[in-house]
Order: sequence, then C-alpha cells, then structure tokens
Amino acid sequence: MALQAAALLPSTFSISKEGKAGASLKDSSLFGKSLSDQVKCDFSSPSLKIKKVLRIQAVATTTPGVTSATTDRKKTLRKGTVVVTGASSGLGLATAKALAETGKWHIIMACRDFLKAERAAKSAGMAKENYTIMHLDLASLDSVRQFVDSFRRSGRPLDVLVCNAAVYLPTAKEPTFTAEGFELSVGTNHLGHFLLSRLLLEDLNKSDYPSKRLIIVGSITGNTNTLAGNVPPKANLGDLRGLAGGLNGLNSSAMIDGADFDGAKAYKDSKVCNMLTMQEFHRRYHEDTGITFASLYPGCIATTGLFREHIPLFRVLFPVFQKYITKGFVSEEESGKRLAQVVSDPSLTKSGVYWSWNKDSASFENQLSQEASDVEKARKVWEISEKLVGLA
Ligand SMILES: NC(=O)c1ccc[n+]([C@@H]2O[C@H](COP(=O)([O-])OP(=O)(O)OC[C@H]3O[C@@H](n4cnc5c(N)ncnc54)[C@H](OP(=O)(O)O)[C@@H]3O)[C@@H](O)[C@H]2O)c1
Repeated sequence: MALQAAALLPSTFSISKEGKAGASLKDSSLFGKSLSDQVKCDFSSPSLKIKKVLRIQAVATTTPGVTSATTDRKKTLRKGTVVVTGASSGLGLATAKALAETGKWHIIMACRDFLKAERAAKSAGMAKENYTIMHLDLASLDSVRQFVDSFRRSGRPLDVLVCNAAVYLPTAKEPTFTAEGFELSVGTNHLGHFLLSRLLLEDLNKSDYPSKRLIIVGSITGNTNTLAGNVPPKANLGDLRGLAGGLNGLNSSAMIDGADFDGAKAYKDSKVCNMLTMQEFHRRYHEDTGITFASLYPGCIATTGLFREHIPLFRVLFPVFQKYITKGFVSEEESGKRLAQVVSDPSLTKSGVYWSWNKDSASFENQLSQEASDVEKARKVWEISEKLVGLA
C-alpha cells in the first residue's frame, strides 16, 4: 500500500537543484480531491547446458535411502544463509536486522563499504554470530566475480539471495559509469545484480534448505499501471537500442531506450529490468530447480539513503508528503519486516510473483505493468545483459 508513495517522489516534486524553495508538482492531480482514492487504488532458452547441469546438481543433493520425514526434520535444523546486497543501510539493513532477530538466519551483508556496514550492523544491535560482512561493489563486474569466489571459499551454503542494493541519481545532469563503462544506475542496479544472480544460481541450486529463494527488489516507480509510475519521467525501455549498444554514452546512448540521459528515468528503467529479470529466471529455472523467484515493492521508505543525491529540501519534504498527503509512508523497520517475510515466510513460496502490501500490511500478489511483464522484452533484456556481463 505504501507502494505508490516512493514512486511519487523524485519526479512528483520537481525542486530545482539551485534550491528554489517552491516545489513544482509535475502531476498536479496528485493534490486533487481524488488523491487518496487514487493512491489507495494503486496500492490496493536458457542454454540447455545450464539446465542440464542444474538438474544433475538437484539430483546429487538428494541423499538416497533417507526418508522424506527425516530429510525434512534435518532441513529445519540448521540456520539459513541469506546474502543481502546493500545491507549497510535502509531496506537492506532493516531486513538483515529483522532476519537476525529471529535467530534462524546467518546474514551475509554484501556491501561496498565494509566499515559502514560494520557500524550499521552494530548500531542495529545485530549479534556478531548472526552476520558476516563481505565486500561487493556491484558497479564492478570483477568485484561481483570476486564476491562469488569469496562466498564459495567461505564454505557456507546459499539458501536465499536478495538483490536489494541500488543507486538513484535524480539530479545528475550527465551520466556516470561503472568500471566496465555502463551507465551507473542500470549498471549497478540491473547488470551487477544480473551477473551476481546468474553466478549464484548454481550455489542456490545446491542448497538443501526447505525453501530456496532468489529475490530481486522492484519498485512501483517502474510500473506505469500505477499513479506513481505515471509521474514523469516514466520508465520505458523502448526497443532496447541503448542497452544493446552497451550504455556507454559514446557510440551508444547511456539510456536503455537510446534517448538523452535522465537520471530519474535511468533508475526507473533499471527497476523494470529487475522485475523482468525475476520473471525470466522464473520461466527458465523454477520448474527444474524448485527455486522461488520473487520481486516486491516494499512501500515508500521515504527516509532511506536512496534519496541522498536529492537536494536537501526534497529530503525534508518528501517524508512529510508521503506521511500526510499520500499516506504511503512506510518505516524502514516495517519495510525490513516485509522483505524478511519474502525471504522466510513459508506462505510466500509462490514463484514468479511481485509482492506488495495493503494498508493493513498484508501481502498480496500485485500486477506488473505491461512493459514490466512483457515476456519478449524480458527475453531480450536477458540475452543482451548476458552479452554485456560476459556470460554469452
Ligand atoms: N526507499 C524507497 O522508498 C524504495 C521504494 C521502492 C523500492 N526501493 C528499493 O529498495 C532497495 C534499497 O533501497 P533503500 O531505499 O534502502 O536505499 P539505500 O538506503 O540507499 O540503500 C541502498 C544500498 O545499496 C548499496 N549500494 C549502492 N551502490 C552499490 C554498489 N555499487 N555496490 C554495492 N552496494 C551498493 C548502498 O551502499 P552504501 O551504504 O555503501 O551507499 C546501500 O547499502 C533498492 O533496490 C530500491 O530500489 C526503495
């Protein structure tokens, strides 16, 4: 239910970077009589080789001669291991905390700033034995590969992977780039996670945990079937010409659709890629592996570091706007409980779902926009992304 709110953000308030106090609302209907109603309403072939390898591994992890009752009992004995990217603040940290408090999970906090993550874990009161911090910079594919190596060397099983980290650069006038030269928002939020999840799929598949899951955090901002998703600039991947050209801003546009750079749109586009990727994973691997693939919109967590690049006035007004005007505000603690639910709740095992929560914080399967559920586009994004990250 808080769903909309987040999306209403950067572009709802268009405050000039120069700091003019007057906020101009691009979508004036938001302040209209029907706002709360609208908000409520809105809230309301992979390679065969890979498939074969996965199938063989699935068979190999089943111990012959053990009854299923014994196996089930065994499976519930050990702590689950969950990797959470971007666990040093906001939603990722709140999720890590919520899972740590259950005592049933060991959280691998996959973060680019070790010290910040350590301080964050301490200030959240997480007990040392419940987490490990491992370095991961999603804006570098080398770092992603190194993370996977380090994780494997740790000897821990992988039961759940949460792709949560993101950057949002709404006020950037010019694009900035990842180590490999991809526009930073799509390079980090989509391509970094794409490589990470493709590589770790093998590890997830080896897990004997009762329910193994791969979760990619989405957003209402990428869904143009909502009020928030219609606040300009709207997400639109177009014919993917910029993505196919490598998003390098030199011989191709830095934007997926090939248009001029727009930082807010680049973030929304990256979220569409996240949601398409989750569904493509589901289509390609769920049946063979039993892994649950899911995405979610955690609500508008207007206080997180995601808005750090916005001007100070926006950061002051946005939470107030979400709390008292749209009433879509969700605290970091509540959002963490929601994502923790998608990680561990036995009733949320359905694969291919985009979860949302209503005003009573009850989860429901939400509808994705036409573009964010476009099967053909998902296939193309997958195939182009494979090439960009060196998997094809
Ligand atoms: N806030 C909302 O209203 C809202 C709404 C819908 C969806 N979401 C989604 O929720 C997720 C978390 O966002 P948040 O609101 O919690 O923002 P946040 O507090 O800024 O958290 C983002 C996390 O991503 C990490 N990160 C950024 N770039 C990275 C990189 N190159 N490598 C590794 N980690 C990196 C950050 O690390 P550092 O601490 O080192 O910067 C931080 O831990 C995102 O996927 C976002 O799209 C948020």
